[in-house]
Amino acid sequence: MSVLPILRYPDPRLREKSQPVAAFNEALRTLVTDMTDTMYANSGAGLAAIQVGVPLRLFVIEAECAGRPSEDPPLVFINPEIVSLSDEAQTGEEGCLSFPGIYVPVKRGLRAQVKAKDLDGKSFTIEGEELFARAMQHENDHLIGRLLIDMVGPVKREIIKRKMRKEAADAAAGSSA
Ligand code: NI
Repeated sequence: MSVLPILRYPDPRLREKSQPVAAFNEALRTLVTDMTDTMYANSGAGLAAIQVGVPLRLFVIEAECAGRPSEDPPLVFINPEIVSLSDEAQTGEEGCLSFPGIYVPVKRGLRAQVKAKDLDGKSFTIEGEELFARAMQHENDHLIGRLLIDMVGPVKREIIKRKMRKEAADAAAGSSA
């Protein structure tokens, strides 16, 4: 069990395209356990592997966000594909652990159906709406390097860029002091 450091924008690794998981082994289980610990430690609703620097098509979503009891384990999506998205849309505030403290309105499909594999390599299909559907779409975006900042207009994008670059510079200055 370990809490891993989360990559923050503008870390270029967040733009990497993740590759399919090929081996359903103990190392994969350890990664998922560490991602879960990391998500909980940061009070996140979801986390993609690339956010801890591992470019694999894999994300986890916290149980309550998926409409389950909060004490349930997170849902694990390996090699996920969005099967269908409703034409009906939702717009709501969205955050991301790679953009701490930033929340922006993002338009998403109201309902999403996703096909993925579990830790045993077994396929499943799940449908979600509202917050759960939003989380699956957000995490799935990470797998192709699409980020929260891509979902806003040019003015807001510049503000976020500036804020994140300043934070990165401050952090770098702090650690070298
Ligand atoms: Ni995110």
